[in-house]
Amino acid sequence: MEVRTFRLDRVESKGAENYVLYLKGEFEVPRPGQFCMLSLSRDWPVLLPRPFSYFDVEPGACGFASLLVKSRVEGTHALVAAKPGSEVLLTGPLGLPFPNAPKDEPDPICIAGGVGLAPFLLLTKERQAAGKAALQVLFGAASKSGLVAMDSFADAAQHWQLATDDGSEGFHGNALELYRSLLEQSKLDCRAPVYCCGPERMMKAVAEDCMSRSVRCLVSLETYMACGYGVCNGCSVEVTGFGRLRGKKYAKTCTLGPVFDARELVW
Ligand code: FES
Repeated sequence: MEVRTFRLDRVESKGAENYVLYLKGEFEVPRPGQFCMLSLSRDWPVLLPRPFSYFDVEPGACGFASLLVKSRVEGTHALVAAKPGSEVLLTGPLGLPFPNAPKDEPDPICIAGGVGLAPFLLLTKERQAAGKAALQVLFGAASKSGLVAMDSFADAAQHWQLATDDGSEGFHGNALELYRSLLEQSKLDCRAPVYCCGPERMMKAVAEDCMSRSVRCLVSLETYMACGYGVCNGCSVEVTGFGRLRGKKYAKTCTLGPVFDARELVW
């Protein structure tokens, strides 16, 4: 697995410990949901690189890749504090993306929490390039300050529905409660599959809700990873043996995910 060196172009603060990192260079274009492993070539405070979903990628010789990150732990603190021009080591694209939807399936509804918004920009752009309808994105956070990076979607078509736990913006409640409320008002297609990324507790609640109504739900896990390409076993999750994982008790998130059908996982 090739580790490539890029230069950090800039780091944009989005508030509430959230940042968008921009790397300069010629990037392989990932599919929505794929991730990369990142570290700094110098002054990297931890042993291993950290996994991040790709947020956006512009291909070509003058291209860039961006990552939406929350600065919670040592590795991400170092990345967001790095100076423009710093050398960043990147391995990717890694993992399996959101699968192509069956032809007769309604358009998906995306439910995102915090930096779980990351995979949905590429998905939005990919759909737009294919001439498909704008996505419904239900975006939730504890308060208004956590609804970050929506400005990055400015050139892409989507319909936003916002939710905050404290009611400071949009619907007063969490993203799942917003989803249920919109279903009750018949403002969403109750048969539409749900694509979800965000805090584990949120994904569990969304997955269980969808499974109880036999709605297909895909989740993009944010599992701890050490290598990112199937060598260390550090990212294994317990699975049910459903579908493509028949006969398996565990699956590596880095090679068989990070996107899973909710029915594949032991919640
Ligand atoms: Fe090493 Fe998945 S992160 S096997």
